[in-house]
Amino acid sequence: MWSNSGMSSRSTSAGADLHLELTVDHGRGVRVALTDALRDAIRSGRLAPGTRLPATRALATDLGLARTTVVEAYAELVAEGWLTARRGSSTRVAERAPATPRDPLPPAPPRTSGPRHDLMPGRPDVAGFPRAEWLRATRRALASAPDEAFGYGAVRGRPELRAALADYLARARGVRADPERVVVCAGMSHGLTLLAGVLRRRGVRAMAVESVGLHIHRNLLRDAGLRIPPMEVDELGARTDTLGRDVGAVLLTPAHQFPTGVALDPARRAAAVEWARTTGGLVVEDDYDGEFRYDRQPVGALQGLDPDHVVHLGTASKALAPGLRLGWMVAPADVVAEIDDGSPDPGPSVTSALEQLVLADLLSSGAYDRQVRGRRRTYMRRRDQLVAALAQRAPHVGVRGLAAGLHLVLTLPDGTEADVLRSAAWHGLAVEGLSTFRHPGAAPGPAGIVVGYATPSDSAWSGALEALCGVLSA
Ligand SMILES: Cc1ncc(COP(=O)(O)O)c(C=O)c1O
Repeated sequence: MWSNSGMSSRSTSAGADLHLELTVDHGRGVRVALTDALRDAIRSGRLAPGTRLPATRALATDLGLARTTVVEAYAELVAEGWLTARRGSSTRVAERAPATPRDPLPPAPPRTSGPRHDLMPGRPDVAGFPRAEWLRATRRALASAPDEAFGYGAVRGRPELRAALADYLARARGVRADPERVVVCAGMSHGLTLLAGVLRRRGVRAMAVESVGLHIHRNLLRDAGLRIPPMEVDELGARTDTLGRDVGAVLLTPAHQFPTGVALDPARRAAAVEWARTTGGLVVEDDYDGEFRYDRQPVGALQGLDPDHVVHLGTASKALAPGLRLGWMVAPADVVAEIDDGSPDPGPSVTSALEQLVLADLLSSGAYDRQVRGRRRTYMRRRDQLVAALAQRAPHVGVRGLAAGLHLVLTLPDGTEADVLRSAAWHGLAVEGLSTFRHPGAAPGPAGIVVGYATPSDSAWSGALEALCGVLSA
């Protein structure tokens, strides 16, 4: 009943009377309009601290909205601290709302030089963080957490999360997981740091890495004292058939090579495992976006082939948010024992016990699966729009790595990468050059750019797509 653009004002007829003006314009949902209207009413002092809000059903009826819209808007405002809610009693304006007329917001900082359109790879749309689900799971986790959860936690992480991850990873990614072999980390990069420590203590000096990959991980391994020889990546993925005894470990992105997007060929998967078995080496699998697949059968975790030689690393950075710093590792028993030797005073875990319990709740309640499915639909739609727009407006550009993930690679005529990046910067568009990811010791590769289509919020997406097409068709 709301038009795409327009303003409506209503008063509630049942329970507390509440006048709200909802401005619903193109691209902004009704829930956002309702949340804004409530926030404005509180900020302006029209809704005083302690004011009881109408029941969700009553407000929904009065405004002609779905009740879930009102429930979600209330939950968001509770999460932000504007409202308070207690089970069994009504929702009220918080006694100390985040800002009042006497406590004006500081002036907005002057706009600095950040890009207007952000298509950087490796990032999800953080506006898609499931605030209401997270809030509900936090309530449940707080209600059921034992007191000891608020003490110094175990290095491996909370048992509830390790058990929930073991179930989820076995079901969704084909990982052979036992909760005893799960270690909770502060993101995948922290897991890699822990593994680098284990390898160094074992006397390993070198870990092979893909010839194109994340420079952050290369730096992290180098800083830990490892040599990181490059292993060529071709259209079948990393050349694991070239691994020798000169390295004691290898880092791979088998499900979706970063950034080229190739899935590691079955023979290359077998070669990696065979190398580990014959040399005693360790395969480290970075499964950073394995849940985001679109056009093909899921590529299961490499770890499933040999859990005693492969470490599986995963992260909540893509499906939820990188700001959480939550990731996990499923490792062979000896590796886990070297990270956590079971001593009674091993030092605290690095991630908050409460956040671990919330993630455990999301996983076991099915909310994490719903989040992944929802994000997958959104990102797949964007990917389709991107591919269609490029075919029409920049047909000379090659498109690679579209079957999965949150980014794709656009190949360019030789020698044009720097020019395209300059033009993008000029137009306020942030993308990454393919050469940024190339190992400094690797042979030169094709020119290209890596485009992260998950990064913008829904409202910023079409502008970013337009800017990209403009730059590439020029
Ligand atoms: C290849 C790759 N691995 C892992 C990650 C996730 O790292 P983290 O869990 O530390 O946020 C990213 C994020 O961009 C990535 O691009």
